[in-house]
Amino acid sequence: MVRIAPSILSADFARLGEEVRNVIAAGADWIHFDVMDNHYVPNLTIGPGVAQAIKPHCVDPQGKPVPLDVHLMVRPVDELALAFAKAGADYISFHPDASTHVDRTLQLIRGAGCKAGLVFNPAASMDVLEWVIDKVDLILIMSVNPGFGGQSFIDSALRKLEQARTLIDASGRDIRLEVDGGVKVDNFRRIVDAGADTLVAGSAIFSQPDYASVIQAMRAQLD
Ligand code: DX5
Ligand code: ZN
Repeated sequence: MVRIAPSILSADFARLGEEVRNVIAAGADWIHFDVMDNHYVPNLTIGPGVAQAIKPHCVDPQGKPVPLDVHLMVRPVDELALAFAKAGADYISFHPDASTHVDRTLQLIRGAGCKAGLVFNPAASMDVLEWVIDKVDLILIMSVNPGFGGQSFIDSALRKLEQARTLIDASGRDIRLEVDGGVKVDNFRRIVDAGADTLVAGSAIFSQPDYASVIQAMRAQLD
């Protein structure tokens, strides 16, 4: 099953709860939550207080919970990861180059009851997975350099997705393979064919008046 995870970075921050409910009603499977610290990346966004405020809105019209997928672009990682676990995050992902002790951070996130993810920038190798894949629930491949919405998809991410898919299949573990940045209707199919099962899309969805029609157009690429 392919999941669509709208990034609320491109939503109207003045109406965030409503935006979350609307995009879920439009067919979103997960809510992607981008945390930037103006240190690891050159931008500043939202923190655990906002996650806690939108958590009650992360539920579909039938009352089923929708996972809150927190993408940390922060350094250091550990304290904020714990704060997001308390705030209600379901998945917490971080960039391995932002944590001094990657294995410890993964254990910390899982120990707090969340699923743990590792995020790989466009120029980053995935070597660390050789040592920690048994503690990973999600691999997130960046298809733009982190920091801003609305950038163009970097094609080498397709090759990295293929490599990550091979690693996941070889591990035999239940690991989500997510991609983030520049995902649009017209590259959706190629990205899924490369092995992704969870696709983040910010500007592609929130820049349009009708979220459902974008999400449907994305799914229709797979027919
Ligand atoms: C970039 C963020 C992305 C971003 C994606 O640093 O991690 O989640 O919001 O935005 P689009 O889909 O507009 O490229
Ligand atoms: Zn993100």
